[in-house]
Amino acid sequence: VKVLVTGAAGNLGSRTCRALTREGIDVVATDRHGRDDLPVRVHVADLLERRAIEALANGIDAVVHLGNHICFEPPDAPKIFGENVQMNVNVFEAAIAGGAKKLIFASSIQVIGSVPRLPKPNPADAPAYLPVDGESPPFPTNPYALSKQVGEVMLQYYTRVYGVESIAVRWPGMGPRGAAWGGDGPWEQNSPQLRPQAFAGVLSFEDAAELVLAILRTSLPGYRVYLPAPKRNMLGRPAAEVIERYLPNVPLRKPIDQIDNLVDLSRIQSETGWSPSD
Ligand SMILES: NC(=O)c1ccc[n+]([C@@H]2O[C@H](COP(=O)([O-])OP(=O)(O)OC[C@H]3O[C@@H](n4cnc5c(N)ncnc54)[C@H](O)[C@@H]3O)[C@@H](O)[C@H]2O)c1
Repeated sequence: VKVLVTGAAGNLGSRTCRALTREGIDVVATDRHGRDDLPVRVHVADLLERRAIEALANGIDAVVHLGNHICFEPPDAPKIFGENVQMNVNVFEAAIAGGAKKLIFASSIQVIGSVPRLPKPNPADAPAYLPVDGESPPFPTNPYALSKQVGEVMLQYYTRVYGVESIAVRWPGMGPRGAAWGGDGPWEQNSPQLRPQAFAGVLSFEDAAELVLAILRTSLPGYRVYLPAPKRNMLGRPAAEVIERYLPNVPLRKPIDQIDNLVDLSRIQSETGWSPSD
């Protein structure tokens, strides 16, 4: 199996290259920055340059597309939005032309709620229901999140037109294993309406890379959205306490005493076998 990994020199990309290579997958790694501590060569290319990506995608079975602007408070909205969309169409078109049957795209939890909050209160500026999951409705409020939602719409298009499997992973906040974010920090103090990033917690890059591997190994026909999360929310408090304190008016999909995670991981677990290690 031959897999193109974009953003390979980045935090998740480097872990993904290691995890895939460990399992004997033939990885074609690319990033605009070089890196020489990975088990694969990183081909230096700009995803905004279509021809370079087309050459790298020749003969691949799947693409893991992680290379994007990752900023959520962009000083330059047209650049963040426009370049992400341009990178995404370049990569998806090249992957299809190169023979890929599976597209995995790094979307973001910010698609379902992000910063900044809207200037005027809006009932939709809260989770539609809890626990959230991959079906939670989009509600982007910044150009980065909007670019990720457009990436998801593009995946639906490629599945419809070319019949490929496509999976948008709405990554929550990620960090090195053991990263302690949150607690009684600004997330909590300034959040009468808690942001999804906070209640979903910080997933380790290592666990995230294992999910990419699990998705590659599983037959997943059609288009789907996954929302993975770690076991713990960012506040380090029981889910029921977070709901009662910050999200009291959100409809619940099961009794509060049966909610141990504000993100429902059951579909990801049953379809791929993946679950977070912490
Ligand atoms: N880290 C998080 O908390 C988080 C949360 C949600 C979603 N995501 C998404 O996951 C993906 C990976 O995130 P990460 O934390 O590894 O970010 P990262 O910044 O460490 O990696 C992204 C990589 O993309 C590359 N890149 C950007 N523009 C490029 C271009 N024009 N051409 C070639 N390469 C380019 C960068 O050089 C970088 O190495 C991103 O798409 C990001 O939006 C990350």
